Amino acid sequence: MFITFEGIEGSGKGTALRRSLEWLAEQGCNAVQTREPGGSGLGASLRSLLLHTSSRISSEAELFLYLADRAQHVEEIIRPALASGRTVLSDRFADSTIVYQGYGRGLDPQELFRLNDLAVKGLWPDLTLVLDLDVEVGLERARRRNQEQGLAESEGRFEAEALAFHAKVRDGYRQWAALHPERIRLIDASGSPEEVFARIAPYLAKAL
Ligand code: TYD
Repeated sequence: MFITFEGIEGSGKGTALRRSLEWLAEQGCNAVQTREPGGSGLGASLRSLLLHTSSRISSEAELFLYLADRAQHVEEIIRPALASGRTVLSDRFADSTIVYQGYGRGLDPQELFRLNDLAVKGLWPDLTLVLDLDVEVGLERARRRNQEQGLAESEGRFEAEALAFHAKVRDGYRQWAALHPERIRLIDASGSPEEVFARIAPYLAKAL
C-alpha cells in the first residue's frame, strides 16, 4: 500500500506521518517512510538545488527537477519497497507538483498530471491525505519550527514566498482533492497532533 501526505508549509504532514507510522506498527504493519524532494541518492543533490539555490529557477526548470527527483525516487525506493510487500508512507509526492507548480505557479494542472504519470510510470498512491489548514496558522507554525531549529526565518525558498502564493497552494489542494475523491482525503489539520491523528486513523484503518 502506498500512502502520501500533502499540505501547505506548517500543516503538520511530518507529525501526521510519524504518528501514522507508529499506529501502523501497532497494527503489525511495518511501513517505510520517505519524502520528496530528496528521497533517493540522486534526490539529495536535487533537493539542495531546489530548496537552497540563490539563482532564479524558471518554472519549467523547477518542474523538471521535481519530476527527475520523483522518477528516481519511484524507481530506486518506492517501487522496490512495494514489490517486497512493504507499505510506503511518503511526505509529499506527485500532488505537490500539481499543486505548487500548477495551481501555485500557473502551469496547467492536467498537463502536470500527464507529466507526472510519465515520471512515476503510472504508480499513483492508494491513499493521499491532504492536511488542510489556514495559511497564516501554517506559516506561523513553520516559522516557530525554524526558530526552534535555529534556522533563519526565510529558510527554504518556499517558506519565503508571499502569503498570496501559499493561499493559492491551499486552494489548489482543495480543488485537486475535489477532482480525485477516490484517492484524496482532505483532513482538517487544525488543533493538536492528537486531534489531527484521530481524523486520519479511520482512513488508515480502512486502507489496511
Ligand atoms: P520541505 O522542506 O520538504 O517542505 P515541507 O516541510 O513543507 O514538506 O520542502 C519542500 C518544498 O518544495 C515545499 O515548499 C513544497 C515544494 N515542492 C514543490 O514545489 N513541488 C514538488 O513537487 C515538491 C515535492 C515540493
